[in-house]
Amino acid sequence: MRIVVCESPDQVAMVAADESIEYLGLACSSSSQSQETSVLGLATGSTPLGLYQQWIKRHRAGEISFRNIVSFNLDEYCGVPPEDPQSYHYFMQENLFKHIDILPLNTHIPKTDCQDLPASAEAYEIAIAQAGGIDLQILGIGTEGHIGFNELGSSLSSATRVKTLTSKTRQDNARFFASMDQVPKMAITMGLGTIMNARAILLLATGVHKADTIRDTVEGPVTAMVPASILQFHPNATVVIDQAAASKLAHLDYYLECERNQQSL
Ligand code: PGA
Repeated sequence: MRIVVCESPDQVAMVAADESIEYLGLACSSSSQSQETSVLGLATGSTPLGLYQQWIKRHRAGEISFRNIVSFNLDEYCGVPPEDPQSYHYFMQENLFKHIDILPLNTHIPKTDCQDLPASAEAYEIAIAQAGGIDLQILGIGTEGHIGFNELGSSLSSATRVKTLTSKTRQDNARFFASMDQVPKMAITMGLGTIMNARAILLLATGVHKADTIRDTVEGPVTAMVPASILQFHPNATVVIDQAAASKLAHLDYYLECERNQQSL
């Protein structure tokens, strides 16, 4: 794992924007901004908002384009229709899609407004494979170490499926709902196997409330009790965090030295 420690949440957003723009060849002047399509995995939650604002700003400045991007979001709540302001469909529309030039037909979010949720999850996994797999997956992380809605105990090789949310996740997300009763109990989420199949991963975390889970993810054992720890097996996973989220890492000085040395190559 590559660990990049930033001074502030704003710097996390800038670094994530720079890394993703380069990796996906989004820059309008870039020679890789050809007709070739790249597949981008997207996340919701508070953490990626700074990155999305950076993308929007640079798109408005004419620097980057999403014309050749196909996107797949990590997850969607069950029982929340797409037009509901609490849905991840609505979140993505408001916070990213309507501000950039991605083609609506190229955006994908798990469908939960249907009768057969397991079939919908299976179809989503197939759609990702048919698009050629995910080139770059953006991830946030839950306070108990979930990525997507892969809660503790998730199979480390799971595919897209219906998952029950833990009470901690429901409490963490209750701030977006009028009452705890309204917080959904289930979601369709990409699996840990789906995420691990992405060619590159950018995990973002900010704030001291993420410090324990970042320590467990980076320095703890690989365990289904901390689902994000599976990323230790990924050949190209970068963790971009602020100083607060990095504050419980035992080997912080070493990670900083690694980055300095990499920059000098
Ligand atoms: P947050 O959520 O970015 O709102 O902290 C992260 C997550 O639950 O994956």
